[in-house]
Amino acid sequence: MIVSAVNVLTLDGPSGVGKGTVGVSMAKKLSYNYLDSGALYRTLAVAAERWDVDLNDKKGLKKLANNLDISFQAESASTIKPFLDGEDITRELMLENTASKASVLALYSEVRTALTARQRLFAISPGLIADGRDMGTVVFPDAILKFFLTASVETRAKRRYKQLLLRGDNVSLPAIWRQLEERDKRDSERNISPLVPAEDAIELDTTYMSAGEVVDALMDVVMVRGIF
Ligand code: DC
Repeated sequence: MIVSAVNVLTLDGPSGVGKGTVGVSMAKKLSYNYLDSGALYRTLAVAAERWDVDLNDKKGLKKLANNLDISFQAESASTIKPFLDGEDITRELMLENTASKASVLALYSEVRTALTARQRLFAISPGLIADGRDMGTVVFPDAILKFFLTASVETRAKRRYKQLLLRGDNVSLPAIWRQLEERDKRDSERNISPLVPAEDAIELDTTYMSAGEVVDALMDVVMVRGIF
């Protein structure tokens, strides 16, 4: 199935593995567009809260997903701001509670179908780096290059903890650790589009690597394959 006419590079993996940091940096280096697909699921969670749509209401969530007025604006080379109905929702989107709700509504096929269609619209010239859970398996199965990043849960929890502390949030490492494990379980064990590497994905364990080292390693593959 051909779903994209331009080069798409996919970057899948569990929560907190650093896909966002790595993806934005690679998109900058390649002058490609960047899709944070998790942001769409998170935005739907924020919208559901605003419009009082229950997380068990599949029909309501489907309708909301099909009508979601979401846009992204590049504020700087490395900061992309998400807007819902024209309002900046950066802060709400970053909350762990929003992420947990996103992982619950991501279980529904109705929601995934609606958001998959939206995600494919990001594959425009000159190319796309798509970050998520099912970018290489479902959304862009014909991607030219697929990566799957992993890291131990301890490393991911610590990375997320530092990120939130830096932002000035009052967070606890054990709570973040527990939430990550819950999300990992839900994302990997769901029936539709579970978090698994595509058969043709290149897997990289980043437990002992810095974000810069990961970017260098992936960019080496991009160069060797002659994509850029
Ligand atoms: O990448 P993230 O942490 O922002 O994603 C939040 C949740 O959204 C994640 O736990 C599961 C869901 N998600 C998904 O099901 N498929 C994607 N491609 C991206 C995110």
